[in-house]
Order: sequence, then C-alpha cells, then structure tokens
Amino acid sequence: MQVLVVGSGGREHAIVRALARSAHAPQLVCAPGNPGIAADARCVAVPVDDIPGLVALARDEAVDLVVVGPEVPLVAGLVDALTAAGITAFGPVGAAARLEGSKAYAKEIMEAAGVPTAAWATVDDVEAGMVAVTGYPVVLKFDGLAAGKGVVIAADEQEARAALESFLVERRFGPGSVVVEEFLDGEELSLLAVCDGVRAIAMAPAQDYKRIFDGDQGPNTGGMGSYSPVPGVDAALAQEIVTAVHQPVVDELARRGTPFHGILYAGLMLTAAGPKVLEFNTRFGDPETQAVLPRLRTDLVDVLLAACARGGLDGVALDWDPRTAVSVVLASAGYPDAPRTGDAISGLAALPDTVEVTHAGTALVDGALVTAGGRVLNVTALGETPRDARAVAYAAAGAVTFDGRQIRRDIALRAEERTT
Ligand code: GLY
Repeated sequence: MQVLVVGSGGREHAIVRALARSAHAPQLVCAPGNPGIAADARCVAVPVDDIPGLVALARDEAVDLVVVGPEVPLVAGLVDALTAAGITAFGPVGAAARLEGSKAYAKEIMEAAGVPTAAWATVDDVEAGMVAVTGYPVVLKFDGLAAGKGVVIAADEQEARAALESFLVERRFGPGSVVVEEFLDGEELSLLAVCDGVRAIAMAPAQDYKRIFDGDQGPNTGGMGSYSPVPGVDAALAQEIVTAVHQPVVDELARRGTPFHGILYAGLMLTAAGPKVLEFNTRFGDPETQAVLPRLRTDLVDVLLAACARGGLDGVALDWDPRTAVSVVLASAGYPDAPRTGDAISGLAALPDTVEVTHAGTALVDGALVTAGGRVLNVTALGETPRDARAVAYAAAGAVTFDGRQIRRDIALRAEERTT
C-alpha cells in the first residue's frame, strides 16, 4: 500500500508517524515534506497549492490514499481533483471545506443546523461593522483564509475600528466581508471528529495554546503546544458535543449535496451556558494532532479509508491510549511577528526514543539542520499523568537548542493542577 501525505508541518509529520505505525505497513510519500519527515517518508518537492502537480504525483506513484493536511489545498479543491482522477483522498471537497474557508458560511450552516455559537453579524463596511458591535471585547473575523491571522479581539472602539479598516479598507487579506461576533468567556476545547459524509465520530479531546507567552499573554500564534485528553471532558461529554455540534453540520452538508468526509474540527468555548462553537476547521488541527494521534490505538489507515466511503465508519470505534500526551512547540526567535531563520539546531540526536519529535519549520543547509519557520519543532511525550508527560516533554524540549528558541512553560499545566 502506498499513501501520499500533503503538507510540510508538524501536523503532517505526526500523521506520517501514525501512518507508519499501521499494520498495513504503507509506503509513505510526502509532498513537499521537511527534513524530519524525510526520515519517515519519501519527500517530493510539490507545493501544497499545486493542485495539478499533486494529482500527477498521486497518479504517477499509484497511491492508494492521499491524506491532505492543510486547509489551502482543501479549499482550492484538491480532493475534488483527486476524486475526479479516480484517486481515493481523505478530506472534504472544496464545497464542504468552505466551512473553514468562509466564516460567514460557517455561521450560515450553524444557524441552519441549530448549532450553538456566538451571536454574530456579517458586514461589508466599517460603519456597518461599528453598528453591529454590541459590547467590548468584540471579536472581528475576516471572512476568508488568513493563515490564522484573520481574527482580532478588540478591547475598545478604537481597536475595533482599526481592525475593520485593516480588513475592509486596506484589504489586508484581499477582498472579503467581516464577521462581527460576540466575545465568549470560558475555557477553550478542540474537539475533532472523523466524518464519512453521514456520521461524525469523536476523536480524543485536546487543548491548544494560541498565545506566544505563558498565561495566555502576547500575540496569537499558530499554536504553542497541546495536550490530550482534557480533564473534565470525558467520552460521554465529547459524544454529547459531537451530537450537538458536529453531527448536525454533517447532516446539513449532506442535505445540501456536499457531504463532509474528513476531519471536522470544532474550536469550542466551554461557557457557563454550555459548549459553543468559535470556529470550524476542516482538517486535522496543528498542534492538536501531535498530541492526539500518538494516543490513537486504532489503525489510522483503516480509519481514514473508512471515512472516504459514504457511511464507511459504520461500526468503527476509536480506541485511545488512556495516558496523557503533551506536545511542546519550540518556536524561533521573533515568532510570531518576524520569525528568524537559519539558526543551527542541536540536541536532537540525544533524545530518548520515548519522545516523539516532529518537524515543522526546519531545513538542511550544507548538511546542518537549521530553523526555517516560526514553529520549528514539536516534542511530544506520553505519561501516566499530565505531570509525568509534562516532565518528559519539557526535559526533552529543554535539551534541544537553537539561538532565540521560544517555549511556553505552561502547556498542560492546568491539566496537571487538576489531576494532582
Ligand atoms: N490549532 C489551531 C488550528 O489548527 O487551526
């Protein structure tokens, strides 16, 4: 069996690692991959937005399955193109990936499906946006894909106006509306579900840490770490959330003739009034995947292939390692505003096998491994308790060095405090 993974980050490396554990012993190809992935899969330099190039690669390699990591090719219709070429692909078609590609469309689907979410209005000009604000803080979301930079939490009128002008007048991310949304208070939860066009099955709950500094301070990042499971969110609560959130969306998209296959990721706020959706993503989360997949005992190849067929997950149950996985991101100097690249990385060779290192932004220059992006590496460890997992993950993260390295020190700290 031959499997192609599309992407080049820590999430794709975690997917490659999980596929490598499959009893099918698949031959793994990754496009474009990175130096870490190259140790586990054959990397081919086709960029993630080259749809014809990826289809040609999948055809030339006669792959049995393509797993698409990032949102850009999903929204651009990679799965549509692969399916049209007769190639089995895990991920939603472009019309279903619109759930991530357009915040306004996601709200429309949630409203139609009766999914709990923050109150909102979609606006096309600054004054309409200011009128739609009902109090501060307020959340302002650019309607399209913005590489995680399209959401602003404005503390006052001045910040709200500045964000609206940046999105709607300066067109920071190109043309597009803005969703003005009620700010929700509570604890965040990432709950991913695997979907087969008909049903949604909960994956293990996770939390990620979006701000750069400890205590959720500083600017937003792509995610500075994650852990799974989440104390207080047991299988019964996860199932309740899937029943109230993911399943109605899967039903609604099927009704609209765009059945959802792939990972439906709900970013949720656990509010006093119950879980409410902050956003949907239509792919594996990054860095949640780095903490979730090491806990999956069910064969990932079987799960992904089943989800590609309509109703294929019927009778499938996911089995999880009860231990806690903690994944710590090592980020480069200057991240997230101006990540510095080219810093030499050392210490990886001495890490124990019990730690899973996934590469996100690394490159080989004259045979030496250097930083090549904002998030550089993830270090993931499993432990009987959050405290055990944190101890191993942080010892390993501390042993990997490069100039300007940034690490949050409080990944899974809340989980540790709740369980000791
Ligand atoms: N963890 C956030 C994301 O994957 O978009």
